[in-house]
Amino acid sequence: MDAKRNWTSIAAPSLICFASLTLFALPARPQTGGAALFKTKCSVCHGADGKGATAVGKADKVRDLGSADVQKQSDADLSAVITNGKDKMPAYGKSLKPDQVKDLVAYIRSLAAK
Ligand code: HEC
Repeated sequence: MDAKRNWTSIAAPSLICFASLTLFALPARPQTGGAALFKTKCSVCHGADGKGATAVGKADKVRDLGSADVQKQSDADLSAVITNGKDKMPAYGKSLKPDQVKDLVAYIRSLAAK
């Protein structure tokens, strides 16, 4: 009896503690979503900084995503390229959710040359 009561008196508070940690950790995700996605899906060609200084980027003349030429396009234009692809740029409409494309566009905006 005693042993069981001891177990729950330790387990219950630590479960509550763990649950609240998880709750706090979740809201932070959307902010970094674009950056993390970009790193895993796009940096192969565009480079982690979006400058396109990769082997593929140079061969296919990928533009610096932070450059004025790219930044002057609307969010809708950039989303369309990511969703539908463009020449050698693969289409991500099937593998990414609209929210993820939005996160990526926001990340591309953060690369704008200052
Ligand atoms: C296989 C290599 C490759 C991958 C992976 C890739 N891209 Fe691209 N991307 C390209 C190429 C090549 C172009 C240039 C297309 C053109 O204009 O002819 C391009 C163009 C773009 C453009 C338009 C830029 C401009 O010049 O107007 C955007 C925005 C873009 N990519 C975003 C992304 C995002 C976001 C991802 C990840 C989800 C991604 N790309 C993954 C190769 C790639």
